[in-house]
Amino acid sequence: RPVYVLNGPNLSRLGTREPDVYGAETFSDLVALCRETGRELGLSVEVRQTDDEAEMVGWLHEAADGKIPVILNPAAFTHYSYALRDAIAQRTAPLVEVHISNPAAREEFRHTSVVAAVATGTIAGFGLRSYVLALYAIAEETG
Ligand code: DQA
Repeated sequence: RPVYVLNGPNLSRLGTREPDVYGAETFSDLVALCRETGRELGLSVEVRQTDDEAEMVGWLHEAADGKIPVILNPAAFTHYSYALRDAIAQRTAPLVEVHISNPAAREEFRHTSVVAAVATGTIAGFGLRSYVLALYAIAEETG
């Protein structure tokens, strides 16, 4: 059972980027954690990252066409990208919005998610474990 784990802008810089907010673990650590959790759950996890909105929209189209469940950390796109929202609205399988930090506890502009309403659900604030919890949610939803 394939699952995409899609990551938006600046997430390739985990580990060096604001470690007080996002932790010391790197993007490669995140990839390894998702693959390992996937193995335990019988999911074949493909992790991708892009800083480019058009590329992310393309991946969401691919997931919709392939009926592939998605775990999505839209990063800053969360707060303003209607293009991403419209792409997610076309989904044909569950999609979990994830955040490493808890955006509700941060700056005002992070309190709005323009994608939350078209996601199956949202998991935020548990560090990299947000992704693990999202993989469990996908396993339950698609089991
Ligand atoms: C984030 C939260 C967003 O507000 C921010 O723009 C990010 C990361 C998170 O995972 O906590 O880039 O999505």
